[in-house]
Amino acid sequence: MTKKTVLLPLAAVAALSLLAACASGPAPQAAGSSAAALDAETMKLMQAAFRDQGIAKVDRIKQDLGQSACSSDKEPTEAVANEVMAQAKAAVKWPTGGQYIGDWKIGERIAQNGRGLTWTDSSAATSANGGSCYNCHQISKEEISFGNIGPSLYNYGKNRGVSSYDAPSAQAIAEYTWAKIYNGKTYNACSNMPRFGHFGLLDEKQMAHVMALLLDPQSPVNR
Ligand code: HEC
Repeated sequence: MTKKTVLLPLAAVAALSLLAACASGPAPQAAGSSAAALDAETMKLMQAAFRDQGIAKVDRIKQDLGQSACSSDKEPTEAVANEVMAQAKAAVKWPTGGQYIGDWKIGERIAQNGRGLTWTDSSAATSANGGSCYNCHQISKEEISFGNIGPSLYNYGKNRGVSSYDAPSAQAIAEYTWAKIYNGKTYNACSNMPRFGHFGLLDEKQMAHVMALLLDPQSPVNR
């Protein structure tokens, strides 16, 4: 009798755990079949876990097309990449009065300056921000401390044959360079360069000064 009472509960436990296994069995399959559902869950989790702090607002987790297309483990398709670049180009604000070029000396200071828009020194005015260009680019030969995530911009204007701004060939280079600094995604959908104009990190005047650093034949970059 004792044998039977012991055996029965054991069988019941075995049956229960089999049921439990069945219940949890299909779940991973269901989740795996819907990456979109998982993305939505993750987004909910992020929204609940983060809060606005200083210059970082929670709406940063909403991605625009250029960000979502380049955040996947796969490259965006050609059509999507073209759409990202087309949207970026259509939104470029060209300089007032066609004033592409400012003062390279101020441009050098902006390129050197990494201040503004950080946790501890958010600038009240855009005009106080730096561009941090040297963080990623070699620019003038005099500055030996620079990053190399981006290509060297030394001799940028000279290499592109810009000997004077008035030359018709200089116009196309100026437009390309402006668009690139305004929003790197204009010519490279998944560019890693900060979108200086697009996000208002630099204002129009500052952009013109940095343009002069790269294109002015008198700038140390081209001498
Ligand atoms: C976080 C790194 C980073 C910073 C900061 C950065 N860049 Fe870039 N930049 C890149 C990368 C990477 C590329 C090349 C890939 C691409 O096309 O976006 C690039 C490309 C460029 C190009 C195009 C070069 C060519 O030969 O076509 C220009 C011009 C340029 N950057 C200028 C600037 C200027 C001016 C600044 C500062 C206002 C700056 N960059 C700041 C990463 C950066």
